[in-house]
Amino acid sequence: MDTPADGSFRMDEESFARLSQYVTQAYGIQLPATKRSLLESHLDEKVKGLGMRSYKEFVDFIFSNESSEAELVHVIDLVTTHKTEFFREASHFHFLTQQFLPRFLEENNRSNLKIWSAGCSTGEEPYTLLMTLEEYKKGNPHLAYSLLASDISVRVIQTACHGEYDIEKMETVPREMVHTYLQRDKCDPKRMRIKPQYRTKIQYKHINLMHNSYGLMKNDLDIIFCRNVLIYFEKNIQEQVILKFCNLLRPGGLLFLGHSESILGMDLPLRQVEPTVYQLQG
Ligand SMILES: C[S@@+](CC[C@H](N)C(=O)[O-])C[C@H]1O[C@@H](n2cnc3c(N)ncnc32)[C@H](O)[C@@H]1O
Repeated sequence: MDTPADGSFRMDEESFARLSQYVTQAYGIQLPATKRSLLESHLDEKVKGLGMRSYKEFVDFIFSNESSEAELVHVIDLVTTHKTEFFREASHFHFLTQQFLPRFLEENNRSNLKIWSAGCSTGEEPYTLLMTLEEYKKGNPHLAYSLLASDISVRVIQTACHGEYDIEKMETVPREMVHTYLQRDKCDPKRMRIKPQYRTKIQYKHINLMHNSYGLMKNDLDIIFCRNVLIYFEKNIQEQVILKFCNLLRPGGLLFLGHSESILGMDLPLRQVEPTVYQLQG
């Protein structure tokens, strides 16, 4: 019932079911009943702001032609976590510089490494990749790379492009790298921004991993980072998405998953080379 005893609306079961089915089908994200109150607390102002009197009215509206995709994306934003940090799961970056990159440069005639950060959130992951590669380039100047970063949320992509963060976020970035790659915000000393010459080295794209095609070339990528994204998907959807990644990787290319994710029990042409690092066979 939508009785606003304390002035806030309650979401009826049917409205929640419609929303959660849509979110799972279109975005792969599961929305358990426990997320209902979270949705209510976040959407309350939105519903009232639109002058509506119930969630039923709101849900009817966002699925109608009158509404824009932006309203649905707003709901998706509320139910997904964008938690991330610089140098998260640092062993992955260590593996890149200590094991993968020396071999890559030795074995390949070409030096153009292609990396995709899928589910990049607010940019800390692609910027960590950028800093890692730039540091490596100091001793290996012939290394060239291209970095693509994508997310389903337009809002987080905008933050990533802007590349500005609270200074506390820099705690996980080695001090010398902070000096090299970031500058203090002129107006707010508690904020730092990635320097423009580095910000522009990352290309951003809006990609829903649930879509059949990502608009990327087959067998073209050397590395895909998709960490802490698939964990919210059902197992069979995870497998379908990883299979699409396999088609985009070159033979020998690497897939990095988050530390609590695994491909155990999936039928995929990948072999594990490190915990949560998988190599495409071929
Ligand atoms: C927890 S963050 C992970 C960020 C980063 N990869 C890391 O490990 O720190 C998960 C990100 O996945 C994105 N995401 C969720 N479902 C998605 C989908 N269907 N397609 C693309 N991105 C999605 C979310 O918007 C969110 O920014």
